[in-house]
Amino acid sequence: MEFSPFGRPCEFSSRGAKYTRRISLPTSTTSKHRVVSGMRPTGRLHLGQYHGVLKNWIQLQHEYECFLFVADWHALTTHYEESDKINDLVYAMVTDWLAAGVNPGSAKIFVQSRVPQHAELHLLLSMITPLGWLERVPSFKDQQQKLPDRDLSTYGFLGYPLLQSADILMYKAGIVPVGEDQVAHIELTREVARRFNHIYGSEKDFVNKAEDAIKKMGKKNSKVYRDLRKRFQEQGEHEAVDVGRALIESQQNITRGDRERLYGYLEGGGRIILPEPEEMLTDAAKMPGLDGQKMSKSYNNTITLRDTPKEIEKKIKKMPTDPARIRKTDAGDPEKCAVWKWHQVYSDDSIKNSVKEGCRSASIGCIECKQHIINAVVEELVPIQDRAKEYMKDTSIVKSIIAEGCDAARDIAEETMEEVRQAMGLMY
Ligand code: TRP
Ligand code: SF4
Repeated sequence: MEFSPFGRPCEFSSRGAKYTRRISLPTSTTSKHRVVSGMRPTGRLHLGQYHGVLKNWIQLQHEYECFLFVADWHALTTHYEESDKINDLVYAMVTDWLAAGVNPGSAKIFVQSRVPQHAELHLLLSMITPLGWLERVPSFKDQQQKLPDRDLSTYGFLGYPLLQSADILMYKAGIVPVGEDQVAHIELTREVARRFNHIYGSEKDFVNKAEDAIKKMGKKNSKVYRDLRKRFQEQGEHEAVDVGRALIESQQNITRGDRERLYGYLEGGGRIILPEPEEMLTDAAKMPGLDGQKMSKSYNNTITLRDTPKEIEKKIKKMPTDPARIRKTDAGDPEKCAVWKWHQVYSDDSIKNSVKEGCRSASIGCIECKQHIINAVVEELVPIQDRAKEYMKDTSIVKSIIAEGCDAARDIAEETMEEVRQAMGLMY
């Protein structure tokens, strides 16, 4: 068999989607193996980001072509008054990524502002993005309320999710690993891509061009393509689209323009220049903060990847416990205790059972209970910190990793921009 539907092994791709959600229908198969994700350098990386995002990236890098970047412009949308701090945070962030296991040999690591094509695409997309779409993104009002001491009634902040759309569409990413709070941004990205393709993907003689493109696939494949197209458009068989995309993807000798036409024609639309991405939900709730709420810099309840063992110990010792346990002889209820949530992340069943038992029967004290967590966090972070120290000894290594990643990202970004400019008629 020459090609097969997504999600099943097939000859030309062994990268199956192993993650929680099926990647339903990204609109181009070139994108399906590509992951884009960014992180804002607004502070030191903390355990919430490590468990929620970074560990996920480190897994994905083996299966997908990953574009991982520092979203420094996104940091500016809220932290524009502290722009002088961003530089150090960018290097510290990439250092921590590397120390945690992001591999520059498999993932492209870059900095958003060093790929200025992001700004160009953002600008061009802004022309076709209705204001209402941005105003109704929940994070727009939420963040304004959550950060009342910052003036976020700016043009840049309103455009935050659209800049994110540009980040994603630039690389034609099929998959974007994000937390729950970002899902609306990915939805917006899909809407914007659809609108772009609708406005700029419809050519006057599209049908003729698409028919020519079909012929270029050769007799046998042309027939298969036509059958699949019919099966989808007449019988509504979604699987036929999957198979058709795989077929298009497996074609070596067709131009990018023809490929976009074939994707679009398969489903009955115009050319697909910017494919629609899917979110891959990462579980940010996995890592509670020191107070039991979600770990977040703005709640001041974090342990950062750079905290020393002493600082870690101090922070965990201060964690609130079940308020009913005033003395060691008072029985406690782990369900009412933030420390217990940390055991879910760090402890094996035998520790968990002995803690549960010991807490309820007042046979262990909270200090002893917390010591397990202190040990586990220190054990987790010390090797990362050791590697970070190595990178910090010679900063030229991190700098050149970033420079290389930026070069690679820029090459792909420029390709996309050429298509975008051409589709819009901006090739002078
Ligand atoms: N907005 C994202 C966040 O706050 C960061 C981000 C910027 C991003 N651009 C992106 C994430 C593109 C995924 C893809 O977490
Ligand atoms: Fe919390 Fe552990 Fe103390 Fe129980 S023993 S209240 S779980 S810290």
